[in-house]
Amino acid sequence: MTEDVNRQIRLAARPVGLPKNSDWNLVEDTVPTPGPGQVVVRNRFLSVDPAMRGWMNDRKSYVPPLPIDAVMRALTVGEVISSKNSEFAPGEAVAGLGGIQTFALGDGKDLQKVDLTLAPYPVWLDTLGIAGLTAYCGLLEVGEPKDGDTVLVSGAAGSVGSHVGQIAKVKGCRTVGIAGGSKKCAHLIDQFGFDAAIDYKHENLSEGLKRTCPDGIDIYFDNVGGDTLNAALARINVGARVVICGAISQYNATEIPSGPPAYINLLGRRSRMQGFIYFDYRDKWPAMQKDLAEWRASGAIKTEHDIAQGDVDIFPETLLRLFRGDNFGKLMIELPA
Ligand SMILES: NC(=O)c1ccc[n+]([C@@H]2O[C@H](COP(=O)([O-])OP(=O)(O)OC[C@H]3O[C@@H](n4cnc5c(N)ncnc54)[C@H](OP(=O)(O)O)[C@@H]3O)[C@@H](O)[C@H]2O)c1
Repeated sequence: MTEDVNRQIRLAARPVGLPKNSDWNLVEDTVPTPGPGQVVVRNRFLSVDPAMRGWMNDRKSYVPPLPIDAVMRALTVGEVISSKNSEFAPGEAVAGLGGIQTFALGDGKDLQKVDLTLAPYPVWLDTLGIAGLTAYCGLLEVGEPKDGDTVLVSGAAGSVGSHVGQIAKVKGCRTVGIAGGSKKCAHLIDQFGFDAAIDYKHENLSEGLKRTCPDGIDIYFDNVGGDTLNAALARINVGARVVICGAISQYNATEIPSGPPAYINLLGRRSRMQGFIYFDYRDKWPAMQKDLAEWRASGAIKTEHDIAQGDVDIFPETLLRLFRGDNFGKLMIELPA
């Protein structure tokens, strides 16, 4: 398809609660041309991530707030189409922060070359990208699993959660997943090899934890926050590691949520709770990607994507699917070829 415009989704207003259509603008800009040191990438797949909701707030965080009228920040994979940067040549496949737009102009600093003979584009946003790397950093670097540990994961059927469960299995742990609905819970066991699952939409969480973690929890990998975190803290073992990866249940909250009352168990059980951001481990990504690729090739890790097909204008509705729980695997958009 010949392109003569760069279609972009820009932030129009800061959302209150769930983002609305009026929080976005669809803009048609000219296709960029690279200046000295610059690269233009044609985006092929756009990653749709829960963290995007936080980037839309005017709040200090691990990345600056997205300015009003800026192109929505997003991880992307695509092809270099023109370059005045000696490190990148037209035709090369790259992953980067290309944003919700057809073409991305940049200085190349955020770009990583990707090997499409090792895995196709979507896998570089999934097992070999944000999902696999986040699970790897959070579980192995922060959680420090030991053989035989009980690892509890929330958001377990999602892209990060399913990788956490599968990597924990590789490391000889017992895995318990929390997910919404019987279909996702069956999938955790049949597809991702979890030992047990809790359907938090249909079972009392404390009862479910008693049933599935009779000997307590050694690692809790938290993607959800709120009541789920509190219920897990109530059952941690001595020396447990509580890995704070995300808190999706709170991302659209209109008031500051209160902390988990059961936090005091960290004291009595001599445990720790630690947050992390996966891109702080960027130096280690190549080694992590090597392990992840091997586990994927051996079948120890299964990769599941949920690919929405369409132009950038489907982004606002696609993002909302994460908060309704109706994605199955790593959510992304495949732009028209
Ligand atoms: N720290 C880092 O570096 C880092 C990097 C990437 C992602 N993350 C975090 O990792 C978490 C998972 O991200 P992901 O990309 O893998 O998304 P995902 O799990 O593939 O999709 C989000 C899932 O969250 C669940 N969910 C939505 N609202 C919920 C609620 N109110 N209560 C409980 N569960 C809810 C839904 O599953 P159910 O149907 O099971 O409810 C939904 O499918 C997020 O918190 C994200 O912010 C952190």
